[in-house]
Amino acid sequence: MQIDRCRGWTVLLLLGSVAGCAGNGQGLDENGQPISGGGGGNGTVTADFQSIQNNVFTPICSKCHIGASAPEGLQLDAGHSYNLLVGVASVEQPNLQRVAPGAPDGSYMVHKIEGVPGITGGQMPLGETPLPQATIDAIRQWITNGAPNAAVAAATAQSFAVQTTAPLDQALVRVPPAQILVTFTQDVDASLVNGSTVTLERIDGPLSVVSGDAQRMPAHSALAEKNAAVLVITPTAVLDSGIYRVTVRGSGGGALANMNAATLGTDASFEFTVEPAP
Ligand code: HEC
Repeated sequence: MQIDRCRGWTVLLLLGSVAGCAGNGQGLDENGQPISGGGGGNGTVTADFQSIQNNVFTPICSKCHIGASAPEGLQLDAGHSYNLLVGVASVEQPNLQRVAPGAPDGSYMVHKIEGVPGITGGQMPLGETPLPQATIDAIRQWITNGAPNAAVAAATAQSFAVQTTAPLDQALVRVPPAQILVTFTQDVDASLVNGSTVTLERIDGPLSVVSGDAQRMPAHSALAEKNAAVLVITPTAVLDSGIYRVTVRGSGGGALANMNAATLGTDASFEFTVEPAP
């Protein structure tokens, strides 16, 4: 059953490698030339998510922010960007949300596109012309308006399923993740998020080798406060190098479900490897 759920993620992994952006922060294309472009995309950006996706995230940001190599696990292609941005903590500055609905000045993504002093790493888009002020203003206005999701209507037509995860399935991560994200096509019923529906296990640890059982890792699971389609799993101790598996129980009594009590129908799991410190 893991196979079924992972098919989409495998496709993403492939896309990530074909896109060939290593997300290494160099701002260079595959020939080592600086990536040019930037600007504001093709059209005038308005203060709604669809316009920002079509004119900024897709043409400018998702060159790098895509697939398994997406920097900080932040995929900005259509269908992934919203739930990896809105209500979700930044990796670089975990005290700030990437997009905090209603609070553009408290949104780390705004800091990154404005290049304000105090950001970690570079201004976005990295190594390119900064976004025009009119584009930044439209993004700020969308956030001020509460950062509504344009795709809600479309999403309700979809069935309840896992959308993506960070880290992605089979990813190798250098820095132990402080948070693990599982995003869904629809809002999740918060009352069903608990230690029986969401588990984090280490599957290569010494205990697992002896007993044949995976070793359960202590972690806190909750929905993002302002985005109930995002499950945030916070390990309560730093994850040592090793192989980890996250499982979301989508069948059986008390299985994870959406607000209409529709379950995933099957368990969904993914694995990632925390690499040894260099
Ligand atoms: C040339 C590749 C590249 C492009 C294009 C790019 N980024 Fe990035 N982005 C990175 C890299 C690499 C990092 C991590 C290192 C850093 O922050 O400098 C990053 C980090 C980020 C972070 C921090 C994430 C976190 O959780 O802390 C945000 C937010 C971000 N980018 C948003 C954007 C947006 C929005 C755009 C488009 C306007 C964009 N990026 C375009 C490469 C890119």
